[in-house]
Parts: sequence; structure tokens; C-alpha cells
Amino acid sequence: MKTTTISSLNAMKAAAEKFAVITAYDYTFSRLIETAAIEVTLVGDSLGNVIQGRDSTIPVTVDEMAYHTAAVKRGNSRTLLVTDMPFMSYATESQAMDNAAILMQAGAQMVKLEGGEWLAESVYMLSERGIPVCGHVGLTPQSVHKLGGYKVQGKEEEAAAQMIAEAKILEEAGADLMVVECVPSSLGRELSQALTIPVIGIGAGPDTDAQVLVLHDMLGISQRLPRFSRNFLETSSSIQDAITAYGNAVRDGSFPATEHCFK
Ligand code: KIV
Repeated sequence: MKTTTISSLNAMKAAAEKFAVITAYDYTFSRLIETAAIEVTLVGDSLGNVIQGRDSTIPVTVDEMAYHTAAVKRGNSRTLLVTDMPFMSYATESQAMDNAAILMQAGAQMVKLEGGEWLAESVYMLSERGIPVCGHVGLTPQSVHKLGGYKVQGKEEEAAAQMIAEAKILEEAGADLMVVECVPSSLGRELSQALTIPVIGIGAGPDTDAQVLVLHDMLGISQRLPRFSRNFLETSSSIQDAITAYGNAVRDGSFPATEHCFK
């Protein structure tokens, strides 16, 4: 497989070819992902849950993200490596720049930030300084207490319209990719049509440009399998095969199926 770049992902969107994203937190899994049919590796702050055993992503620090990013980088130079900026590490523009620099120097090729319009200036400043940015709208786990739990977002027409408007502002500010989490499938589709950059869904239906899953969820080893995920190891003979099966299922459109989606 070829090395992934922002241009190759844009070309896939233009050709209506779906791509697969998966999280990784260490060198060994990163090596398996490099040789599987996966385009993007995300060092997610979900490591707070699946690696550290915490009940949210809020305690995760920049130093921890940098440590895991460096380990993942050592295992994989083919997929695009995106790293989450953790809770409160981008609350101001100068924090966003200082902390993004730490993550990029650890090996990230793009940073991901959760939120809407309020991030526009930070996205612009990062992008202007050569740091690619992935937005993250819908269910934003770092705001779990403000959202009142891990709930499907954008169910009402007004909330859906606002999410699309804010995502477009981030695209105009310079975002290169957009994650949308836990929204009705119709909103996942509308968002992908409204943005020119690739939209990566998780619990956002089958019509986004790409899909992302947490590694431990798709291997069925998380404490609780989220409704929008699927255990690919159940029907595979090895972890390597399970990761490849996930990539293939995203590409051929068989994942996500109706039971993984929200109305
Ligand atoms: O932290 C993470 O793993 C994520 C994905 C769920 C998109 O942000």
C-alpha cells in the first residue's frame, strides 16, 4: 500500500473511495496497522479509557499523548499519523500552538481538536504555521460533563444545521480532515456533502467519506462494545486479519451496517 498524505485522502474523497482510520497507542499494534489496509492511524486520547482504565479522556495529558505518539511513529511510517490534543491543551491559541508543536515533534503529522466555531482562530494559526488539523464535531468526549453524558448529538434540525455551519467555518479556517462522532446517519451524510475535506465518521452512518474505530473496540477487548462498533476479531484468525477485515469492510461499504447507526 502507498504512503498516505492529505492529497491522497482528498483524491479518495473526489473519487468517492472510502478510507479507514484506526486508533493505536503503541509500537507493536502500529506495525500491524502499517501492513494492513488502513490509511490513517489516530493516537486517540481514548487511550485514557482503553490503556489507562480511566472513565473519561479528561485526565490525559500532553506528555502522555507525546509518549504514545512517539511509540506509534516508530512502528509505522506509511499511514498518516494524527494525534489528539488532550483536554484543555488548546483552550487558548497560544496553548494550541505550544502543545501542537510538542505533539508534532513527537511524530504526529496532524493534530485533532474537539469543538466548533470557537476553534477557528486556533485552526487558522496552526494551519498557517504548517500544522495540519483535523476537527472533531458531534459527540466530543472531552466535553462529556457539559453534554450530560455520551449521547447522540445533532438530532434536532437546528442542532444539525449548526453543526454543519460550524464544521464549515473550521474547514474555511484551514482544517484538513473532520471527525464526526455519534450523530444520525442523515447528518453524517449531509456533513460529508457540505464539506470539501474528507469527513471521518464514528457512529455517524455509512455515508461519511471514511470510518474510524477504537482499536480495542474493533478487537472486542474493550470493557463495553459501543453500539456503533463491530468485533472484527470474532470472524478473523488473527489481529492482523481483523484489522485488514475492518479496512476492507469500510472500503466495500459493509461496515457500518444498520445496527451500528443512529436515526
Ligand atoms: O480518542 C479517540 O479515539 C477518538 C476517536 C474515537 C475518534 O477521538
